Formats: sequence, structure tokens, C-alpha cells
Amino acid sequence: MGVQISPSILSADYTDLAAEVARVAPVADWVHVDVMDNHFVPNLTIGLPVVERLAEVSELPLDVHLMIADVDRWAPDYADAGARSVTFHLEAATAPVRLARTLREHGVRAGMALRPATAVEPYADLLAELDMLLLMTVEPGFGGQKFLDLVLPKIRAARELVKGRDLDLWIQVDGGVAAETVERCAEAGADVFVAGSAVYDADDPVAAVEGLRQQAEAATAASWWGRP
Ligand code: DX5
Ligand code: ZN
Repeated sequence: MGVQISPSILSADYTDLAAEVARVAPVADWVHVDVMDNHFVPNLTIGLPVVERLAEVSELPLDVHLMIADVDRWAPDYADAGARSVTFHLEAATAPVRLARTLREHGVRAGMALRPATAVEPYADLLAELDMLLLMTVEPGFGGQKFLDLVLPKIRAARELVKGRDLDLWIQVDGGVAAETVERCAEAGADVFVAGSAVYDADDPVAAVEGLRQQAEAATAASWWGRP
């Protein structure tokens, strides 16, 4: 698939989400929608009714990132609400294999997210059940946090697993992804880049998306895993 950019509307104007998505639609691949419940993370955002309506008006496919407790119960509803990709946190799931299979049955891409302190190796056998692995590069909950370099070896380990097993699995990074950090993520093995503040706090969000894409593509082309 190559490099994909998924701007996060967490940093956008919540009173005008349709317009905020439209701003980046010409240059982005997805729109990243952060759902927080004030239980799994100490912050609260939006839920099903907003996602449902956003799916109707958005020109970009919805990449829904669920930071909610009891996610086995709720994730399929987000698939039915019109998302194209639904990502649950491993740490919040009771039965991640069943949940990933259920999401695929509901016709969406199944994503699984790991917090910075959760290792990927114990879940190596689970990766074939997934369409995307999200490696959080900050503790989930808030936009505008500092990128955590300590996640880079995990990105590399995940890419090694994907290559070694010849899996068709996207590796997404989320948190502190910006001009200063995107190349390190791409070099390590990420191919889907979420950026909230780096896009929506920029004077020109379109130029910000284009800049991140260029940096990521160049870094991938020169990387240990992306070289032809
Ligand atoms: C944080 C969210 C992110 C957030 C990233 O928990 O999952 O998607 O929008 O924001 P930035 O890019 O500003 O770190
Ligand atoms: Zn997110």
C-alpha cells in the first residue's frame, strides 16, 4: 500500500467536523477518529451518533481508534456505524481474536492497538487475524504529547514479524508524529501515520499532510525494510 496519512480530528474544531475533514480530504488517505470514554483513558470525546453522522458526510474513510473499556461489546457497533477501519486496544479487550474476527465479519478492517508499555512479541500469532497494528507512540488520551522514542524498537520488531511471516498487515503509529519524528517511525517500519496537532494546528493543514507524506516516503525508500 505504501505510506498512508491519517489526520486525527482530535485537534480539529469539533463544532465543524465535516468542514475539518473536507480540508484535508484532497491529500489524506483516512480521517482518524479518536473515541475516548473517560474509563480506559482519562479523557472523553465522541461516541456512536457522531461517528455515524461523520461517516455519512466524510469524503475520507473513517479510521476509528477506540480508547474505551468494554470494547468487545462496542466495537462492532462502530463497524455498523460506517467506519472502514476499527481499532480496539488489546489492553481493553477480553477476547481479542474473537473481536478481530467479528470486526472482519462486519465488513471493516480490524485493527489492534498497543499502549507504549505493551510488547508485541507475545501477540505474534495473533497478527494474522488483523489488518492493522497500531503502536501508540504516546500514552493514549490526549493530543499534542511528546513522542516516545522508546517505542521505536517495537515498531522494528513488528515490521520484522510482518516480513518474516509475509503478512499483509499495516503498522500504524499515533502520538507525537510530526516533521521531527515521522522519519524515525518510517525507518523503523511504520506505514500508516496518524497526526493530530501536526496537521490541524498547522497554518496550512494540506501542506502539513503533504510534507509528512514526502518525509515518510523518502525515509521508507532508504530504510532497512522498504528498500526494493
Ligand atoms: C491520542 C490519540 C491521537 C491524537 C494524536 O491518544 O490517539 O490520535 O490525536 O495527537 P498528536 O498527533 O497531536 O500527538
Ligand atoms: Zn488515535
